[in-house]
Amino acid sequence: MKIGFIGLGIMGSRMAANLIKAGYTVHVFNRTPEKAEVLKGDHVHIKKSPEMVAMDSDVIFTMLSTPEAVQEVALGDEGLMNGMGKGKVWIDSSTVNPSFSRQMAELAEQLGFNFLDAPVAGSMAPAEKGELVFLVGGKKTIVKYCAPLFKVMGKKFIHVGDAGQGSALKLVNNLLMGLSMYAFTEGLVLGESLGIDKALIFDMMEGSPIAAPMVSLKRQKISTGDFSAEFPLQWLQKDLQLATQTAYEQGIALPGTNIIKEIFALAKQAGLADKDFTAIYQYLSKEQSQ
Ligand SMILES: NC(=O)c1ccc[n+]([C@@H]2O[C@H](COP(=O)([O-])OP(=O)(O)OC[C@H]3O[C@@H](n4cnc5c(N)ncnc54)[C@H](OP(=O)(O)O)[C@@H]3O)[C@@H](O)[C@H]2O)c1
Repeated sequence: MKIGFIGLGIMGSRMAANLIKAGYTVHVFNRTPEKAEVLKGDHVHIKKSPEMVAMDSDVIFTMLSTPEAVQEVALGDEGLMNGMGKGKVWIDSSTVNPSFSRQMAELAEQLGFNFLDAPVAGSMAPAEKGELVFLVGGKKTIVKYCAPLFKVMGKKFIHVGDAGQGSALKLVNNLLMGLSMYAFTEGLVLGESLGIDKALIFDMMEGSPIAAPMVSLKRQKISTGDFSAEFPLQWLQKDLQLATQTAYEQGIALPGTNIIKEIFALAKQAGLADKDFTAIYQYLSKEQSQ
């Protein structure tokens, strides 16, 4: 099975590296070509376009920032659609909205190839260790065919349902992640304003039923102020935006998400877009001190 991998950012570069390590031949493309250079090796073929990746591969992964980026890579000039054909599979692991995934699945069906949405839970470290959790939407037979690939890059894959359902569960995941990190941050800012040491707040909350276990994983970043990106703040803001867009499509209301996504939007505009999403703490504490 020849693999294609398009999008070699924080996540994609590590996921592709694991496929290469497992012995697969991988055809890669990244918009900024230098990022593909680090993957050089006997089994790696750097291509000049998504179309060329698709032409030479059986299963093509995309791991791109936004639905707009996926659309450009898929449908743009020299896009991957041009290189797809019967029997091939496109797996979109980007975090996008479910209705967008369903659109891509319909397009694939019309053009005679297969599509799965398979976004991932887990950040930079799990991507590196091959410990992601794939949330998969699409046909069962295709999920089964691709299972060995999910097992190389992940510790688990969950077949959630038809096309779009992987993206649906991923948005639920990121809504909870964004809102719980934001809630913890407000608690921290209040506690510190009252003279409680940050370390004491972490010590008390860690392992308690009150704070999400994610708080432990992010303690180091928040305590040291090293907000180098594992999960960029701008992509969390995008995911909250996509959750509210999806709520509109579903005819439901997400009042809390709407408010918090705008606070992340302000943090993004304040220059924290490329920082880790935990930099929301930096934003909030700075705002309070002004
Ligand atoms: N980081 C995490 O912890 C994490 C965890 C789970 C899911 N995700 C999701 O996974 C996806 C990738 O995240 P990431 O953290 O790896 O982001 P990233 O480091 O910013 O990488 C984004 C990738 O998308 C490419 N891209 C963006 N716009 C493009 C366009 N118009 N045409 C072609 N390529 C384009 C970038 O190319 P360039 O290199 O040229 O910019 C890069 O390869 C996102 O949907 C994110 O929400 C991230």
